Amino acid sequence: MESSPATSSKRLKIAVQKSGRLADASFHLLERCGLTFARSKDKLFCYGRNVPVDVLLVRDDDIPQLLVDGVCDLGVVGQNVAEEQRLMRTQRGEVADYGTLKQLDFGACRLSLAVPEMESFDGPQDLEGKRIATSYPGLTGHYLKQHGVNARIVRLSGSVEIAPSMGTADVITDLVSTGTTLRANHLREAEIIMKSTAVLLRSGQPLDASLEPVLNRLLARIDGVLEAQESKYVMLHAPKSRLDQIREILPGAESPTVLSLEGQDDRVAIHAVCRETVFWEHLEELKAAGASAVLVLPVEKMLA
Ligand code: PRP
Ligand code: ZN
Repeated sequence: MESSPATSSKRLKIAVQKSGRLADASFHLLERCGLTFARSKDKLFCYGRNVPVDVLLVRDDDIPQLLVDGVCDLGVVGQNVAEEQRLMRTQRGEVADYGTLKQLDFGACRLSLAVPEMESFDGPQDLEGKRIATSYPGLTGHYLKQHGVNARIVRLSGSVEIAPSMGTADVITDLVSTGTTLRANHLREAEIIMKSTAVLLRSGQPLDASLEPVLNRLLARIDGVLEAQESKYVMLHAPKSRLDQIREILPGAESPTVLSLEGQDDRVAIHAVCRETVFWEHLEELKAAGASAVLVLPVEKMLA
């Protein structure tokens, strides 16, 4: 990703959340791609030391606009924010000029309808004539429309969960990850409206040609990081006769390396890269198949 002298003035700009559920994981992903940064005094601008890539730390809700305006080339946000703002822009007759490049493996949450603990909910028709507090009027309106329900949306920018107890709304739709916020406010998750994870978005504005290779290399490294995260290097000893059975158990292993063991004719060492999550259940199955000395190691980097 090194910049050549002719292109050194152009730099790829990535917007990530400054604080909140995606902030640490977004920045960590870029660091795992080998990017190192010098932070500005206010810590809102990170200058890539080793690559022509800069990071802007902003409110997640501002990221789509930065992409639409071409201020940033890439952004990491939740699908909830990307889709909400796409719907709202479309409603206003504006273009939502950004697209998804990659789904990432963090920031899982859901936009859910929540009702007071003690109240029943038998389906969307129960919302007819109700007041729904939300920071997601686009997605909530879309959900109501899909179910042919007329309800009033009370738009709030925060503390949505207290609206029912304050009497300003009957129910809410809000983001849920652990469910703690709902429980603390005596609300119950009644229906999931949308599931979300973090995504990497790309601005629809044209990218300077000199930055295309920078982007492509970054994307390949992100793939490598995502793949390495799931992958494990597994080493074990096993009876030679059980080789096929062991290979079947190892999740996502292609062709394991089989090595002979000094002084043991009937047992071999097997080394394999497992590209799928290795669960305890897999280890127990391996043991039952005669494996011993099973080691599971993390994979730091991977280049296919
Ligand atoms: C969301 C949501 C709740 C909380 C739910 O806010 O508005 O307050 O997370 O999480 P829980 O189920 O784990 O309790 P978030 O921190 O994402 O802030 P934002 O939506 O204002 O960016
Ligand atoms: Zn936010």
